[in-house]
Amino acid sequence: MNDSNWSIPGSSISPETGRGGQANTAPPAAEIARAVELLRAGDLVALPTETVYGLAGDGLNPVALARIFEVKQRPLYDPLILHFAEAEAAFAVAREVPAAALALAKRFWPGPLTLVLPRREVVPDLVTSGLPKVAVRVPAHPLALALLRAFGGPLAAPSANRFGRISPTDAAAVRAELGDAVPLILDGGSCRIGLESTVLEVNADGIRLLRAGGISVEEIEAFAGPVERANVARGTAPLAPGQVAHHYAPRKPLRLLAPGETPPTEPGAGWLAFGFVDCAANAVIKNLSSSGDLREAAAHFFRSLRDLDDHPDVKIIYATQPPAEGLGLAINERLARASAR
Ligand code: TXA
Ligand code: MG
Repeated sequence: MNDSNWSIPGSSISPETGRGGQANTAPPAAEIARAVELLRAGDLVALPTETVYGLAGDGLNPVALARIFEVKQRPLYDPLILHFAEAEAAFAVAREVPAAALALAKRFWPGPLTLVLPRREVVPDLVTSGLPKVAVRVPAHPLALALLRAFGGPLAAPSANRFGRISPTDAAAVRAELGDAVPLILDGGSCRIGLESTVLEVNADGIRLLRAGGISVEEIEAFAGPVERANVARGTAPLAPGQVAHHYAPRKPLRLLAPGETPPTEPGAGWLAFGFVDCAANAVIKNLSSSGDLREAAAHFFRSLRDLDDHPDVKIIYATQPPAEGLGLAINERLARASAR
């Protein structure tokens, strides 16, 4: 990495939270060295990525992997993504790499895309939950890449929240989720994308969407041709293990609004809105994007949901569903799960 070009992508996007990294600050070399030391000892480190913050551990060390499941209170059937600094290293843990996977990696890595490929023996069973395939990705955040390079091996990193809860998109949210259970939280500002990576299973005969995420299916299809989508949008069937019905859940009840509907005027209503809002509404409002921009909505989604969940005046959260196109598909999928309880 070129030190003079150091910048944190989160820096430009957090008008609501006021958080965000500072551009042109020096890479935190001492923090990275400390993180590597912890990781080599089998301990865990929270790190920023462009999608959400991850709870990272040595991807080849079963003790570290077990610790991830323990800290997250995550069931062992939910497999982990291995993160790499480079595509070549990611593909080295795969037994076969279809041409489509190579092309997708070339186009979208580093970036919010995870590829599920046949695994090699070197991948511990705890990573894949015993499945014959492994999920790999090269993240785009400079701090994540700097740590991956310094560590020199794969990092397993699920989102840094307790299982089933709201994913963290800034360091404060990680602290709220995991507190003292993680010895080091690297602060890289607010996540630029704000939704987890898109997960694709790539086979010789086609591409299957396992989780809608930070790159829209439309963008992938424009590049790679048709993608099998099954019913990801409805957020019901767990296509990928771990995508259980009640994921991303706030502590407070969450109700989905029909298109054009406004929340009832009752005390304690919170409104996760999208697009133009008539201010007559008698609710605590967090608007994901008043101009109806889906990328902006994605970047604000988890922080806004968390803010309403933490707001002392809010007893119930009402959510407007953005259109199910582009990143709206991934937002709706998460809203459906957040409301499933
Ligand atoms: O953006 C992201 O992907 C973030 C950041 C930290 O990189 N990570 C993340 O990890 O969202 P996690 O553990 O919260 O979600 C990973 C999901 C699993 O729940 C599962 O749905 C899918 O990826 N997955 C992982 N390994 C898989 C496998 N071998 N086969 C099928 N799906 C898999
Ligand atoms: Mg997660």
